[in-house]
Amino acid sequence: MSLNYGSDKKRAVQAKFDAQKIAFGPIMFQAALALRNLGILELVKNTEAGITMDEISEKLKLPVYGVKVLLEAGLSLELVRAENDRFHLTKTGWFILCDELTRVNMDFTQDVNYLGMFTLSESIKTGKPTGLEVFGDWPTVYEGLSQLPPQVQKSWFGFDHFYSDYAFPEILPVVFRNNPQRILDVGGNTGKFAIQCARYNNQARITILDLPGQLEKASQQIREAGMSDRIDLFAINLLDHTKTFPKNPDIIWMSQFLDCFSQEDILGLLRRSAEAMAENSALYILETYWDQQRYEASTYSLHATSLYFTNIANGCSQMYHSDDMRKLIRQSGLELSEEILNVGVSHTLFICRKK
Ligand SMILES: C[S@@+](CC[C@H](N)C(=O)[O-])C[C@H]1O[C@@H](n2cnc3c(N)ncnc32)[C@H](O)[C@@H]1O
Repeated sequence: MSLNYGSDKKRAVQAKFDAQKIAFGPIMFQAALALRNLGILELVKNTEAGITMDEISEKLKLPVYGVKVLLEAGLSLELVRAENDRFHLTKTGWFILCDELTRVNMDFTQDVNYLGMFTLSESIKTGKPTGLEVFGDWPTVYEGLSQLPPQVQKSWFGFDHFYSDYAFPEILPVVFRNNPQRILDVGGNTGKFAIQCARYNNQARITILDLPGQLEKASQQIREAGMSDRIDLFAINLLDHTKTFPKNPDIIWMSQFLDCFSQEDILGLLRRSAEAMAENSALYILETYWDQQRYEASTYSLHATSLYFTNIANGCSQMYHSDDMRKLIRQSGLELSEEILNVGVSHTLFICRKK
């Protein structure tokens, strides 16, 4: 793979400004969050003629000083603009306030990542998720997921589900086009995909493979959905490469899963998939590859998300380049038979078969 990305055509004055945006990034992130969470952006949005600092301070019962420094930061952040002392919401301000994707990403940054990221350099040097220590003493975030503080869990699941929620309904017709009857959902988490499969096709049986903590949550959701007779749970530490997968499924499904592992472990997981597959089985890999994005904003978000894996999740995985995955698929002895681009917000589906 030869990587080509980016350019350096900016004028120096712009480059220096961009450098300052990075230098003050964490402070300005907190300012944007405060403008959102304290209700200031909402108030500004709801006043067509604009609103003054004093009016905001009075309505929200916040000190004028605090409102003033936040709004002035908001001017530089281009979240608000001022006209004759009255503040108006900008387009960027609207996205910070109203766009669900932006909200989910900001909450994930604040609740899951912000404190831990202070030790990012340590994670880089040691290959350990040193930021996870903020929450507890687990080797990876996955062992601790069900024990994280409620707000942290909310933001973690909010982030994870936002992306898969868009992708699943869109991809189900592809998953079921050959009428699969036995599906293994590897890393099936809270059972969202399995439940949707069971609803989509009333014959299919789905087995979720995941850690015990996640399966407890899945079990509850599956019971509530009335699908316990069609969805089985298989507790397993998937990093133990001596443990085999249940044999001869029609489909092995891995959604937003392989990005949780190092390249070495992905190879192990792909090889174990190949061993479990029959001649007609297929492995479906749904991932967000940073090189296969329609928008720069998506690539930017994925590069940032990689560092969550470095510092909080496990110290060794990332949002991959699609060529990383193609190489591992080849090495595992599987063959990439089909690629479906632009699924949901930013996903690609790889369909692999035995050679
Ligand atoms: C990012 S979530 C993806 C969830 C779901 N497939 C989706 O698309 O939304 C990754 C899942 O992999 C599971 N996982 C990570 N490491 C694991 C391990 N060592 N053994 C078993 N499951 C693991 C996590 O518990 C989690 O449920």
